[in-house]
Formats: sequence, structure tokens, C-alpha cells
Amino acid sequence: MDAPDIDHDAIAAAARALEQGRLVAFPTETVYGLGADAENPQAVARIYAAKGRPQDHPVIVHIAPEGDLAHWAADIPPEAQQLAAAFWPGPLTMILRRAPGIPDAVSGGQDTVGLRSPQHPVALALLRAFKGGQGGVAAPSANKFGNVSPTTAQHVRDEFGADGTVDMVLDGGQSQVGIESTIVDMSRLATHGPVLLRPGHISPEAIAAVIDMLPVAPDAAAPRASGTLESHYAPHTPVAMQDSATLVETLARLRDAGRSAALIHYSSLPHQGPEVRLPAEPEGFAHALYASLRAMDHCGADVILVEAPPRDAAWMGVNDRLRRAAHGSTGIVHGLLQRDIPE
Ligand code: TXA
Ligand code: MG
Repeated sequence: MDAPDIDHDAIAAAARALEQGRLVAFPTETVYGLGADAENPQAVARIYAAKGRPQDHPVIVHIAPEGDLAHWAADIPPEAQQLAAAFWPGPLTMILRRAPGIPDAVSGGQDTVGLRSPQHPVALALLRAFKGGQGGVAAPSANKFGNVSPTTAQHVRDEFGADGTVDMVLDGGQSQVGIESTIVDMSRLATHGPVLLRPGHISPEAIAAVIDMLPVAPDAAAPRASGTLESHYAPHTPVAMQDSATLVETLARLRDAGRSAALIHYSSLPHQGPEVRLPAEPEGFAHALYASLRAMDHCGADVILVEAPPRDAAWMGVNDRLRRAAHGSTGIVHGLLQRDIPE
């Protein structure tokens, strides 16, 4: 991890801003979060307004590792305690039944709450300074609704800089993991077992190694999660995913048709145009994925072509995000090859 020097004055100012109901963006090891005091409904409402996010989408509450889980959640199964002991602080969010007194604003009106203790040193320092380490910071990813999540402080400024709704942005370097936390629903354990709502760096197998139950895919009754909307995490430029062999051919055909493509790949594919080559392993790929999508989004290309990663379990989180980024762009390559270029 880029080990940032902790600026204690900035942390103290940020904690005070949160206590006063203001919005503070802060780094976590997954992506940057847009934080507000989880127990102040007006402050949480400002997050929704800033993001342009629907009011019924719940937000994750971030707590210090020493925080009191029982303040936030009720009927906590021992397996949830085991997961907290194994993975917190870290990139795992657990959905638990919410304790009485937790505002509707953070739970989106559901009877559950999402909880996570992040590992980034700046996030840890902030959570320990805020309300003496006993508070909770409600924080979705610090991007406008539907956009790619930010993995640097500059990305956050690019999203919110102009509109003045974010009071402070703490800079903690580039997020190490690079994709959002794994979300596992532990609120219906007795009837449904653990349910994987969003894949991430912590794999179902790693969870099973701790609680001896493998998280399964959600059924229709599972809680809603906006990160599970089909189209999410998407740049403005259309995105298409293709396997390596098809991609080489597509690049040539697009070039012949006078179309411009930006390329994200991990093999050595030939391309004359904007490109990023990512590491050919899932952790390095995830780390740089969102920054790469943002960079390629700024090239003015007709399409961002992504070399489809392998399908195996280690790539689950990456494949999930890429599938969502490409969801709204079905048929884009075909369309670009058919249509005449406007004058
Ligand atoms: O890595 C992360 O989780 C980042 C960092 C900032 O911690 N946060 C993040 O938050 O990705 P957000 O709001 O962009 O995505 C959180 C997801 C959403 O899909 C939300 O619907 C879901 O978690 N979620 C939160 N509370 C929930 C609950 N009580 N029940 C079901 N889903 C919940
Ligand atoms: Mg998000």
C-alpha cells in the first residue's frame, strides 16, 4: 500500500466536520468513501443528494475495529463475530439485522444494516478520532450514482470538485484493493445461510474457511444492493468485453471503419491508440481497473475495449465489475461497424 504519512491535523478537522454533520471523503483500501455521521439523518441525506442516489438504497456504516458491533446490529450470529475477527479491519461488509435506533436513512428503510471496518490507515485514524472511536460513518463510494468508484483523491475531486457539496477530501494515495468490498448477507443465516451480495477481494472460499459455510448467490428475497444493479460502475464511453482472439480482429475492423478504440488488456495485444496494459493476475488488475477505466474514458474514443479476463474464481470480483460496466453497451461494436461516420 502507498503508506501515507498521517496528517493528524487533517484527521482531527475531518472528525470535527463529520461531528458537525458535514460530508468528508476519505480513502479506504477498496475505494474512496463519501462519509457522514451515520446517526445524523440530515447528514446522511446530504450524501444521497450529493451522489444523486435514490433514497431507498442503504449505505454501509464504517466503524473502528474497537467499535461496538452490538450498538449497530441485533441478533448477531456467532459466525458474524468469527468473520469480524478474521477479516476486520478489511474489505468485508456484513449485512446484519439492525439494532433499534439505527436511522432509516442508513438502512434504506430495511430491517438490516451493512457494517464494515476498513483497513486503510487514514480511514482507521478518522474512525478512531470521530466521536472518540464509538461513532459510525455512513459511506457509499465517493462517486456520482452509477459512475465508476474513485480510487484516488483526485478522482473524488473530479466527481464533486465543482459543486461544493463535499466539505473535505482526505488524501490517502491510491486504494490498494481497487474494487469495492465483498458483501455477505448474514442477516438470514438460519434460513438461507450466508449470501454473497457482491463479490470482492475476500472470496467465498476464504469466508467458508472461517465459518464452514460457503456463501451462495442471492435469491429473489435477498436484500437489494445498488452495486448489484445490472448497469453500474460504468464510464461514459461505451465498454465492450471480448476474448483476446476476437479483440485483435475487432481492433483491426474498427480501425478500417475509421473508428477509435481505447484498449484495456493484460496480454500483449497490438494497438495503435490509447491503451493500458494491466497485470495478468486478478489483484493487480483490480487495483488498477477503475483508474484505467477513468483514463480511457477521457480519450474521446468511440468505445473502450476490454480483454475479457479468465473465468476462474479468483477473477470473480473483476468479472462482476466489468460485466456491469459493459451492461449498457450491448451491441456497441456491431453498431460502430454498421453506422456511417457523421460528417
Ligand atoms: O468497499 C466498499 O464497500 C466501499 C467503501 C467506501 O467502503 N463502499 C461502497 O459503498 O461500495 P456503496 O454504497 O457504493 O455500495 C454499498 C452496497 C450498495 O450496493 C448497497 O445497496 C449495499 O452495499 N448495502 C448497504 N447496506 C445494505 C443493507 N442493509 N442491505 C443490503 N445491501 C446493503
Ligand atoms: Mg458505489
